[in-house]
Amino acid sequence: MSAHLYPDPLSFALTPTPLQPLVRLSEIIGREVWIKRDDMTGCIATAGNKVRKLEYLLADALEQRADCIVTTGGPQSNHARAAAALAVRLGLEPILVFAGRDPGTRKANLLMNELLGARLVFSGSFTPEDQSAALNKVCEELRQQARNPYLIPVGGSNGLGTLGYIDAYKEYSRQAQAHGLQFDWIFVTTGSGGTHAGLLLGQQSVQNDIDSCEKLIGVSTWLLKEKSKVLVASCMDQANELLPVFPKGNRPDIQIDDHYLGRGYGITTPECLEAVRLIAKTEGIFLDQVYTGKTMAALLDYVKKGTIQPTDRVLFWHTGGAPGIFARDWA
Ligand SMILES: Cc1ncc(COP(=O)(O)O)c(C=O)c1O
Repeated sequence: MSAHLYPDPLSFALTPTPLQPLVRLSEIIGREVWIKRDDMTGCIATAGNKVRKLEYLLADALEQRADCIVTTGGPQSNHARAAAALAVRLGLEPILVFAGRDPGTRKANLLMNELLGARLVFSGSFTPEDQSAALNKVCEELRQQARNPYLIPVGGSNGLGTLGYIDAYKEYSRQAQAHGLQFDWIFVTTGSGGTHAGLLLGQQSVQNDIDSCEKLIGVSTWLLKEKSKVLVASCMDQANELLPVFPKGNRPDIQIDDHYLGRGYGITTPECLEAVRLIAKTEGIFLDQVYTGKTMAALLDYVKKGTIQPTDRVLFWHTGGAPGIFARDWA
């Protein structure tokens, strides 16, 4: 047990993840763009942003003597796949309660979950309320069988999970300093909110002059702006209870852009697909059609519109998700 209000995190992620210039992309678009490679936090099953959150959440699961984890998402959830892979390594049974119906086929993340031996449950529910009820029901049934489930919220986004991205910002900040770099913008994908929340809190805890630090743009891939802000704010408030960064009632501003969401979560856009192909062709790096491709589409559009100035330095925070490309027919 640690001296603070949360457990010491486990150590899974291969950190520090590289901070690299995207030299060829920068030449093409006329802006200096760098990338933070959180797609490289582990091998394919454990890679992506979720690992940093799960280091805290699974430490808590062990402290609470859980014998299984229960978590949720859509059938192609990267979070569920990463949680299942790390749970297996800890000897905890992964139980994944997916929203919606069983798609029948096992591709990409869903295939990986099956290979990991995760128990797959399709709740058939389509609203957050029904999904929450389905999760509680699964946990209750497990308790009745004398099991001790540890429930991880969608995306691993609660106060504890958010702490992983406070650490991540600090890691990036040390790297930027070592390279003598100052960034004007950070683009990150926002879904369940914990990643964005942690980066904002990290910024607050590290930077003395918050007005002159990076503009942090969360590109929404799930919800419209106002609802997305509520999720990020809630993660910030919960994390701030565990590790105070800002005075109560003085939460830093949250900037969400939902213009690149298209018709909604999981539905890709032509600009997103174009961005995925561009980064693959120029940099040999894979984004995906649900999350990071939309964020790169936003970055490229900000450049096109002149919102990002020629002298600005930009960071694209890669949050992983490449296994998802195998769920799509790209022909
Ligand atoms: C690849 C990828 N990037 C970004 C996100 C969004 O992160 P968060 O849920 O912390 O907002 C997710 C998860 O939903 C994801 O799978």
